[in-house]
Amino acid sequence: MKHQEKVSPFSEKKIRLTNSFEDQKPGTSGLRKSTKKFCEKDYLESFIEAIFQTLPGIKGGTLVLGGDGRYGNERAIQIILKMGAAHGLKKIITTTKGILSTPAASNLIRSQNAIGGIILSASHNPGGANGDFGVKVNGANGGPAPESLTNEIYRYTKKLKEYKLLDVPDISITAKGKHFLSQMCVEVIDGVDDYIHLMQKLFDFESIKQLINDDFPVIFDAMNAVTGPYAHYLLEKLLEAPTGTVLNGSPLEDFGGIHPDPNLTYASDLAELLLEKKQYSFGAACDGDGDRNMILGKDCFVNPSDSLAVITANAHLIPGYSEGITGVARSMPTSSAVDVVAKELNIKCFETPTGWKFFGNLLDANEITICGEESFGTGSNHVREKDGLWAVLFWLQILSKRRLSVSEIMKEHWLKYGRHYYSRHDYEGIESKAANDLYNRLENLLTSLTGKPFAGSIVTVADNFEYTDPIDKSISSRQGLRILLEDKSRIIVRMSGTGTKGSTLRVYLERFVPKTGDLDQDPQLVLKQLIDDINSLAEIERRTGMNKPTVIT
Ligand code: G1P
Ligand code: ZN
Repeated sequence: MKHQEKVSPFSEKKIRLTNSFEDQKPGTSGLRKSTKKFCEKDYLESFIEAIFQTLPGIKGGTLVLGGDGRYGNERAIQIILKMGAAHGLKKIITTTKGILSTPAASNLIRSQNAIGGIILSASHNPGGANGDFGVKVNGANGGPAPESLTNEIYRYTKKLKEYKLLDVPDISITAKGKHFLSQMCVEVIDGVDDYIHLMQKLFDFESIKQLINDDFPVIFDAMNAVTGPYAHYLLEKLLEAPTGTVLNGSPLEDFGGIHPDPNLTYASDLAELLLEKKQYSFGAACDGDGDRNMILGKDCFVNPSDSLAVITANAHLIPGYSEGITGVARSMPTSSAVDVVAKELNIKCFETPTGWKFFGNLLDANEITICGEESFGTGSNHVREKDGLWAVLFWLQILSKRRLSVSEIMKEHWLKYGRHYYSRHDYEGIESKAANDLYNRLENLLTSLTGKPFAGSIVTVADNFEYTDPIDKSISSRQGLRILLEDKSRIIVRMSGTGTKGSTLRVYLERFVPKTGDLDQDPQLVLKQLIDDINSLAEIERRTGMNKPTVIT
């Protein structure tokens, strides 16, 4: 129901920050901290003030605002609306109950010609009063704010003395409608509709519907997070999958206690249905804010690096990409599986640092159409974020056109291109000094490794990855330690930029087996020598006190 409501009086309030104010170092794409921290007096407001003072075009501009529904989402929306009105925004587009997935936000920013967006999420981190919260800033292209902007926001937080907001009561965002806060229009829309229309433009829904109808049972785990409403609509309504296809489909403030990260550890219930009980032909899950995806087949886990390669190799089957793709990109730690496909397709292939923001310039310049990361992130030029449900639909579309099982698709792929056995080992919650010491020591050791034997081969490159953006020529250095071997094996070691407790060390392992080799082995066994050699070189067990990783992907 549409209604128009005027709120008055419009008195503006300036609040002086009296507490000793801790400056807010943004992480990879914004600020991610414990919910408790965000509940501290003036904490959220301070960061928002810095954004409003820094983001270009605030005065008279339109901003998109929403989040993944976690604890704190609605409170933050009310605060940001009142602050936005005090800073002269013309309009804020927000969504009913503030529910807006990250890819859907990216789409809205682009379609509404907004100056950018604020997405309230800590992505795949747990939510609730004892979990994490986050504020992510996106720019006018719909993508995560570039480092230049987040650095500027950070600089601003250091000189922050006060923030301002309009002193008015909360407005209702439970239903669609228009409201005015002083001169600023607040438009509450449905956060699902526009995204669904975009998906309908890219995919042939009839053919997927037919597949599901032809005894191809699918299951999707929304992990009590933001994708629930989107998945209900897409899978159960439009694709006519049976009711119950979407598990955990209502966004909950604490995600029902689930750690909303779609991997074999945290989405183990789903994994069991596919890998052990073998009840479904296809299964998938998305993370808290809907940008990550995990793809499973009956008795088959699709490694995200392989998923990117399969998506690229089959893009011609999808209506939205049938005219061809210009190029692909992957983050540096992602396996080289997609490189081999790009070579075969004779398209460009870029290797970028970790983080979606590095794909933005390449997408904007139309150098690439598809991109992805090993961390369950895949996407394309349809938005400027990775997109979990897009990847799910992409896979379903491949399956509907090829009429093979997921494991048959994978086997066929490896028989054509060879297999890049791959795994990521995470050591979470390491005491920060121990983690830094380990990393710095390993970095120093790299200089003497080139030309030496390692894990049954010879080291050809051992360095800290540096990236020059092909478009704006900006340089990003120290993006991860690389040990590349003559036999095409790769070992990457980097520190997580998104963890909130202690430090997380990530070790990425890759070994190539050509199409004539044994393509049906356990990755951990194939990678054993690489694992053992990096563990002893970096003294991982001794320095972390952990004799095995906390998460193995
Ligand atoms: C992690 C992933 C990275 C991804 C980021 C945001 O960052 O590894 O690929 O872009 O989350 O989803 P990290 O914690 O490794 O810095
Ligand atoms: Zn996410």
